[in-house]
Amino acid sequence: MQSGKLVVVGAGAVGSSIAYAALIRSSARDIVLYDVDGPKVDAQVLDLAHGTQFTGVGSVSGGNDIAVAGGADVVVITAGAKQKPGQSRLDLAGTNAEILRTVLPPLLAVSPDAVYLLVTNPCDVMTVIAQRILGLPSGRVFGSGTLLDTSRLRWLIAQKAGISRSSVHASIVGEHGDTEFPLWTGASIGGVPLKDWELPDGEKPFSPQVLDELTREVANAAYRVIAGKGATNYAIGLSAARIIEAVLRGEDAVLPVSSVLDGPYGMSGVALSLPSVVGTGGVRSVLNVPMDDGERERLARSAAAIQAALDALML
Ligand code: 2OP
Repeated sequence: MQSGKLVVVGAGAVGSSIAYAALIRSSARDIVLYDVDGPKVDAQVLDLAHGTQFTGVGSVSGGNDIAVAGGADVVVITAGAKQKPGQSRLDLAGTNAEILRTVLPPLLAVSPDAVYLLVTNPCDVMTVIAQRILGLPSGRVFGSGTLLDTSRLRWLIAQKAGISRSSVHASIVGEHGDTEFPLWTGASIGGVPLKDWELPDGEKPFSPQVLDELTREVANAAYRVIAGKGATNYAIGLSAARIIEAVLRGEDAVLPVSSVLDGPYGMSGVALSLPSVVGTGGVRSVLNVPMDDGERERLARSAAAIQAALDALML
């Protein structure tokens, strides 16, 4: 059983799915849902609590009084507008930046020692804004970033290779958005470079063309889900629960998450995802992973897209 108090801010589809995943996975001892909409948050809490006969011993509670969010070890921010079909994540920057300005100061007042995890989109832009508002070290304020996209990629690769997802090593990095890309350098299955992987009949399924298709499929994955059901929620719920566990268990797990960079790859002041060590206190370091020239160029393009969104908000 885990220790720690988790506060999830926002009782919409994403916030409640994070609470649900955290409850089922026993990611935290106390799971608290906080939202300004009292009837809605009370209903979500009741619905979650009604299933706790079948979960671990963790508790679930919540409400619309900021006091419920006090003393947190991890605060997850999901509050904000969501993408409508056809909108990009970056289109939400202005609206959601305003929401952060309202929501974060009172949270910091009641939970000054927490690690803050940003899930609200555009996740990288929100991470920079949140870190500035909160004034905490960059490791304590970070975004779920491309962990979700990485899970999407690994699922696709595992299907094509006919191999367990847990044996696939590949990451999506950069913006959690349209400029994200896979780090094919270093991608492997059980130590075999992806491009050399052979099916039982000797076919090598990961041609350059297939890698390009996988890249596009991952970048478009959320648009496809949003077109069909209006939002994504389950996979982000599980991704956030995984990050919460890494923090509360002090795992020092390597996960691609988004933190404000100060130096790596010549970047400073912008947040984007790179494989990072996540444990007690949040992001403990950002790895210097091998990249070829093309990947470095794509990383710079991704940083430029995020910086442009920040500039548009005059930050
Ligand atoms: C996702 O990738 C929309 O950012 C959300 O599922």
